[in-house]
Amino acid sequence: MSVNENYLNSANLPVHIGFIMDGNGRWAKARKLTRTHGHSAGVTAMEKIIRHCGDLGIRYVTFYAFSTENWSRPKAEVDFLMNLFSTYMDKIISDIKRGKMEAHFRFIGNLDVFSNSFREKIQYISEKTAENSSNITVNVAVNYGGRAEIVHAVNSFISENPNKIITEKDITERLYTGLLPDPDMIIRTAGESRLSNFLLWQGSYSEIYIASVCWPDFTPDELDKALEDYGRRTRKFGGLSE
Ligand code: FPP
Repeated sequence: MSVNENYLNSANLPVHIGFIMDGNGRWAKARKLTRTHGHSAGVTAMEKIIRHCGDLGIRYVTFYAFSTENWSRPKAEVDFLMNLFSTYMDKIISDIKRGKMEAHFRFIGNLDVFSNSFREKIQYISEKTAENSSNITVNVAVNYGGRAEIVHAVNSFISENPNKIITEKDITERLYTGLLPDPDMIIRTAGESRLSNFLLWQGSYSEIYIASVCWPDFTPDELDKALEDYGRRTRKFGGLSE
């Protein structure tokens, strides 16, 4: 079934979409491949989705690439994922140097745990692509946890203002996402209906969309279906619909 193109007009599109990229392991298992093949295929899917979102004019996307809880996976899988991030960053750096990078990349999460070389790449990419911020902004959440992010924001406020009453704005400003608009929509793949500690504060009024396909099979056409579904919804933010 084809998507009604009206729902892909900028007036109807979300400004910010969060993606929980679930099901890489299941995708690989179904093909008798190792889980790591699933993660590699996941990166390819992510690249296609970024390109498609850019073409549609979506301004912000946030990908949940590695959670604070993912460290509990077998060491070989964690090592593979870290290598994948590193290779991915090398590719971005090469694109930047060739003048081929049009997106603004940001990395959100507790980045202190990563090696110097890893953090240097993150910093280089964030700085060099900042000039692209009028195009799509891509947030990659690594060592990210929504609860840890809120605790970090509260602690940083208290250390600056020990005697003040804390407001919602004080927390929002100190989240890793900073002044980015909240996600209008959060998409999770592989049929799971959980937030899993992703954008807990920012996602308070996000429209949740669950896709049945595993992340490597989440194609631009699947995204279009999700966007049509989003366009048909009425957002109420706690109020009443007309
Ligand atoms: C969840 O699927 C996926 C992850 C924990 C990792 C997501 C990472 C990627 C798609 C790669 C991103 C890479 C870069 C370079 C940003 P799962 O492994 O839990 O799948 P399963 O539930 O089927 O086992």
